[in-house]
Amino acid sequence: MTSIDALDRDRIRELFDIRSPVFEFTGGGYAGDLHASFRELRERAAVQEGTVHDLIGHDGPAIFHGLPEPDRPHFSAFSFETIDQVYRNDTIYASSPQAVDQPDAPVGHEASMLMMGGAPHRRYRNLVQPSFVPAKMHWWLDKWVDSSANMLIDFFLDDGAAELNVDFCASIPVLTITGSFGIAVDQALDVRSNLHDAEWMSDFLAPILAARREQPLDDLISVLVEAELAGDDGSVHRLSDDEIHSFAVLLLLAGSGTTWKQMGIAIATLLTRPELLEEVRADRSKIKPLIEESLRWEPTDPMFSRWVTEDTELGGVSIPKGAVMHMCLGAANRDPARWDDPDEFDIHRQLKPSLGFGGGAHVCLGMHLARLEMTTGINALLDRLPGLRLDPDRPAPELIGLYERAASEIPVVFDPPTENGGDQNG
Ligand code: HEM
Repeated sequence: MTSIDALDRDRIRELFDIRSPVFEFTGGGYAGDLHASFRELRERAAVQEGTVHDLIGHDGPAIFHGLPEPDRPHFSAFSFETIDQVYRNDTIYASSPQAVDQPDAPVGHEASMLMMGGAPHRRYRNLVQPSFVPAKMHWWLDKWVDSSANMLIDFFLDDGAAELNVDFCASIPVLTITGSFGIAVDQALDVRSNLHDAEWMSDFLAPILAARREQPLDDLISVLVEAELAGDDGSVHRLSDDEIHSFAVLLLLAGSGTTWKQMGIAIATLLTRPELLEEVRADRSKIKPLIEESLRWEPTDPMFSRWVTEDTELGGVSIPKGAVMHMCLGAANRDPARWDDPDEFDIHRQLKPSLGFGGGAHVCLGMHLARLEMTTGINALLDRLPGLRLDPDRPAPELIGLYERAASEIPVVFDPPTENGGDQNG
């Protein structure tokens, strides 16, 4: 059995299908015209009282960052300009309720950097940032990304058909991030399904941490084990198991939970436009604008939130201390004040930064890795699957979901390798 045979397809489908019960709480099955609603709301006013899902009239499950928080007033921002203001002011717009309720409390070991602010956030982020800079991408590529993408293709190459969401997109990020934590392929899915079970994760990580403390290796978990954190008083300490634990859960969650959806969105959009597919197949430098345009046009996580630490005003609306501000990145990314014909998917438009990876101090730590995984994945598909196209006998992919967007499924066919070796890599 090759290591990839250890991945159970049905289990992947359960864990990584936007329509499955796993995604119900974020509105996974939502199939309304989300962007038409975003457009209407943005045109009505840049900032409005209410949650995004209430404002679009969705009354099904809808939990995400900053939700449900039933006891707080909620506001939502829809324009690029107002969200940019929120991202630039992380004193007023904080990343956790603690900044409002107990501003002087010390950062607990259970907190992840996603929830911290100011100096503690910078100190924690700086511990791992060097592993995620562009210059470090060859490390990720050579150690995990390239091999994962090609192993997955080997697995379905002879079939002449695949469902790329499950057979490909879902697995590259989970294998990459678990690999960087020293987790074997046959345990990757167990980890993915137990990420919210603190006791399970703690028991699982303990022997890996002990082994790396004994003998560090060239991987991300060793970086965390060896990292030295400076305290407010200037003292320096190695991270405790609990601190590593919360770091690990955030990185494993963010690393395995987002890129597969964005890669599926980019691939589905490419395959439903045959002329674009031919253009990108012939000129691989177009993969970069394809990915950037997918992040603008359909960011997989279209909403993140902030807690308001003092009375303020945004877009002409008074916002009270204690409110939650939801930043509708999906609406801001199609703001006509910033992009011409914003609803068009156009890889030739002038490249301007979008909010697909957020902004400000908490801008996505893994954005270069995510770009690398998507670029490597799309290149490998085009290199190794001649005649790649949507399966004409299966339903075409749809982009669905409310607070998490993804392709429903991506059934494809391609020309299988010939006896003389049609596959260059095989
Ligand atoms: C296409 C894939 C991805 C998308 C669309 C995405 C999107 C985002 C966004 C929008 C934020 C900002 C959240 C906020 O404003 O509160 C964020 C933060 C973050 N992302 Fe990503 N992400 C992706 C992939 C990854 C990967 C692969 C990793 C790690 C391996 C990662 C790790 C993180 C971390 C640690 C943060 C928190 C940073 C901080 O608090 O300073 N992300 N991501």
